[in-house]
Amino acid sequence: MKDEGKAVPKATESPSDRLLAWYDRHARTLPWRVLPAERAAGNRADPYRIWLSEVMLQQTTVATVKAYYLKFLARWPVVEALAEAPAEEVMGAWAGLGYYARARNLHACAKAVVAEHGGRFPATEAGLKTLPGIGDYTAAAIAAIAFNKPAAVVDGNIERVVTRLRAIDTPLPAGKALVRTHVAALTPLLQPGDFAQAMMDLGATICTPRRPACVLCPLAEGCEARIHGTMELYPVKAAKKPKPARRGAAFVAVRPSDGAIFLRRRTETGMLGGMDEPPTTGWGVGQDGATGADAAPFAAAWAKTGSVVHVFTHFTLTLDVWRAEIASASGAAGRFVTPAELPAAALPTLMKKAIQLAEPAAFATSPSQRKRQA
Ligand code: ADE
Repeated sequence: MKDEGKAVPKATESPSDRLLAWYDRHARTLPWRVLPAERAAGNRADPYRIWLSEVMLQQTTVATVKAYYLKFLARWPVVEALAEAPAEEVMGAWAGLGYYARARNLHACAKAVVAEHGGRFPATEAGLKTLPGIGDYTAAAIAAIAFNKPAAVVDGNIERVVTRLRAIDTPLPAGKALVRTHVAALTPLLQPGDFAQAMMDLGATICTPRRPACVLCPLAEGCEARIHGTMELYPVKAAKKPKPARRGAAFVAVRPSDGAIFLRRRTETGMLGGMDEPPTTGWGVGQDGATGADAAPFAAAWAKTGSVVHVFTHFTLTLDVWRAEIASASGAAGRFVTPAELPAAALPTLMKKAIQLAEPAAFATSPSQRKRQA
């Protein structure tokens, strides 16, 4: 039978050729992405959009990031707009994404790009790394995707693909440098951005942590782990230290006249810096906070309503949640926020959980719902 000229990649092609041919057919459509076919029609990746998406994707899944990315882009379509935004609006829009130092750095980076680079992102990895919040991974991703530089992009998905492909068994994170060397060797001079994103998509959809779909994989031929049937043994990771358990308390004060919640702003530096909270006791990486009602920021008839748990990178925090009704918080630093204003507050998920536990009506969407819950 005659070959009909379909793009069936030959096994003799390089891994990057096979991967790029696969990407042409299977790339995920993502809001920040310019697909190869769109680029052929003249569309170019916008460095601002690539940077925004990559900062959001640093510790967060694609599924969660999509909505936040679209919200930020609608509100601040260009880097100048984000640079001019008030800090509390940026923190409020970020609330729920976690790792809040990213939001502070995002804002600082937008300001630096406008003030020091005329509103244009530097086009090299080294130049990008001088900006706040841009480390090795993000600099490489932006350089490859937005500026077509053959940078070696290594995220968790790519680590998995490459440690399997080359049977790299040096435990991570010590093995990172070796993985990077292999990624650099695989990265093509043409289409390095497509290659990086294809590797990410392959890791997310085919070369999955468990039960990888090797029969569908464009890199199956020549994959060392596949040859030995040891795919699920990779990546090898060093044993993790158990996380310490920390404790503290949160004080949810409710104003009975309108259901407003008393909030204060956390200091700019440190955990959840610059975010809003009902007052909490001094918990942190190396320290427990007090948990009793005597640690409250003002005297009231505090009643314990339960506790909430949140897992941070270096510890697990349990906050005992106290509730009281007060007409005013004379002397305490902070402000009352009504249920209607609450969605605009910069509340991390942990603090939302604490308020939800003490005063579920605070998050009801309409006044009638609030009445029904009261
Ligand atoms: N994760 C991080 N960056 C990504 C990208 N550009 N595409 C898909 N997943 C990603």
